[in-house]
Amino acid sequence: MCGIVGYIGQEDTKEILLNGLEKLEYRGYDSAGIATLNGGVNISKVKGRIATLREAVDENIHSTLGIGHTRWATHGAPSKENAHPHQSTSGRFTIVHNGVIENYMDVKNEYLADVELKSETDTEIIVQLIEVLNNELQDVNAAFRKAVNLLTGSYAIALIDAEDENTIYVAKNKSPLLVGLGEDFNAVASDSMAALHITDQFLELMDKETVLLRREEVIIQDPNGKNVTREPFTAELDTTDIEKGTYPHFMLKEIDEQPFVIRKIIQQYKNEDDQIKLDPEIREAMKQCDRIYIIAAGTSYHAGLLGKQFIEKLANIPVEVHVASEFSYNMPLLSEKPLFIYISQSGETADSRSVLVQTKELGHPALTITNVPGSTLSREADYTLHLHAGPEIAVASTKAYTAQMAVLAILAVDTARAKGLELDFDPMQELAIVANAMEALTDQKEALEELAKDYLPTTRNCFFIGRGIDFYVGLEGSLKLKEISYIQAEGFAGGELKHGTIALIEEGTPVIALATQKNVNYSIRGNVQEVEARGANSMIISMKGLNKDGDAFVIPHVHDLLTPLVSVIPLQLISYYAALHRDCDVDKPRNLAKSVTVE
Ligand code: AGP
Repeated sequence: MCGIVGYIGQEDTKEILLNGLEKLEYRGYDSAGIATLNGGVNISKVKGRIATLREAVDENIHSTLGIGHTRWATHGAPSKENAHPHQSTSGRFTIVHNGVIENYMDVKNEYLADVELKSETDTEIIVQLIEVLNNELQDVNAAFRKAVNLLTGSYAIALIDAEDENTIYVAKNKSPLLVGLGEDFNAVASDSMAALHITDQFLELMDKETVLLRREEVIIQDPNGKNVTREPFTAELDTTDIEKGTYPHFMLKEIDEQPFVIRKIIQQYKNEDDQIKLDPEIREAMKQCDRIYIIAAGTSYHAGLLGKQFIEKLANIPVEVHVASEFSYNMPLLSEKPLFIYISQSGETADSRSVLVQTKELGHPALTITNVPGSTLSREADYTLHLHAGPEIAVASTKAYTAQMAVLAILAVDTARAKGLELDFDPMQELAIVANAMEALTDQKEALEELAKDYLPTTRNCFFIGRGIDFYVGLEGSLKLKEISYIQAEGFAGGELKHGTIALIEEGTPVIALATQKNVNYSIRGNVQEVEARGANSMIISMKGLNKDGDAFVIPHVHDLLTPLVSVIPLQLISYYAALHRDCDVDKPRNLAKSVTVE
């Protein structure tokens, strides 16, 4: 969701910015632009893709300082006018911004009554405010700091001054932003991937800090203007991790990576004695709590629903799972010793972060399970568990979901053992079996492509049913299908359809049923008969040992509790092929952002 890249150095900046913006495309956007400075400011911006921006950029303009942006519309429609960069009235200041300024109307009324605005964005308010304050203070850095101190809400900002070719002004609050360090250049980017082509050295920024980014130095200042020192870190990413290689889409690559991710998790969470390796403080926090509250959104929420099953069944601790955006405004009564677990692939989801801020204020411990260890949710929680899934670029989450479940299963077993509970479940051994089963499934792409073609060629809607943990996997299957193929898909508990939704079943309506659980095998098949009797075109995905003649697809046998890690793979692939055959943009579905950094 919106991305920033900025560069100040010796090289021509156009290609560096465009390349960086391409690396941010995965976050989701609807318009893009760059501004470069050399004698004067040159701005190119477009509605649409970076490829269109490339065509719009004047090749003859050369500059060694510039800022770029991908915009996901919040205030004002996706359009060229609302695309960033935005300029102050005189044209002296040019800005790119991510986030949402909550008090932009107040700022406008109080400081900008006489200023004629050119766009509908909250961003323009910031750049105009800086100009007004600079006219008053005659000091750009002081005006910049004063302006950002007046803002409430979330922001990551990069600003250039047409009268200063040696500075990019940077600020951050709640929205992610990193400084990239080089020999004779410095950069700024929403995430390390956008600058990995020029450096692997980065500085984290804390909320409300501002930065003077120059060719030869980086000065970080706190809100009072006091200089702050900070050690850089090395991004543990390889540029090949963020390339598609021979794959047509990142989503397909990431689906295929799942067996390797599970093996990596086994390796990372096991010590030399083959015991679970986990931060003892996390173990203690799990042992001490009387109830766990899992907070997450989207696919991570679906992983949380399964995490509840693992923790309750194995470690005997009650767990509530909440959608972050609801919890924030409607907090339930909490137990005496709660532990909050935040599950987030990106670690930047604003809805989850808003709950984290509230629960930290209440003094409750927090554990973040994330794929991005340096992310906001990771930094702000007491403890972090890393998913080790490698960068997930496709908007539709696949490998992070299965990684989340694997880590939750390990955590549940570790807690059970710490509590002295007897378990007949070796998570590492069972996960190794899961990894092999995943591999067997990713080898059957042709069969799954055929199923997608048979069941979903022109359908308007599709239902997923399951019972017990299969129901939760159905929820994830329906989210995958709708987000990338735009087929209206819903997941239901098998027994629930007949309480209303069965009214929607018509001749040929696709219903995908999961049957991987012995205790409900009979009843879910009964639900399939009910919908078939009303004309549904049903497909049963079952597990070896529970399968029956006529099942559309059979997954290999794995431990009952871990079936979601395997049964989701045919659903991911069916969604992928359904989207592909409908000519949808699989990796960058319309209206969606990878990292949802606004509430
Ligand atoms: C997954 O396919 C989605 N694109 C989305 O639901 C995602 O899982 C959700 O936005 C939460 O993101 P997070 O895991 O980064 O917090």
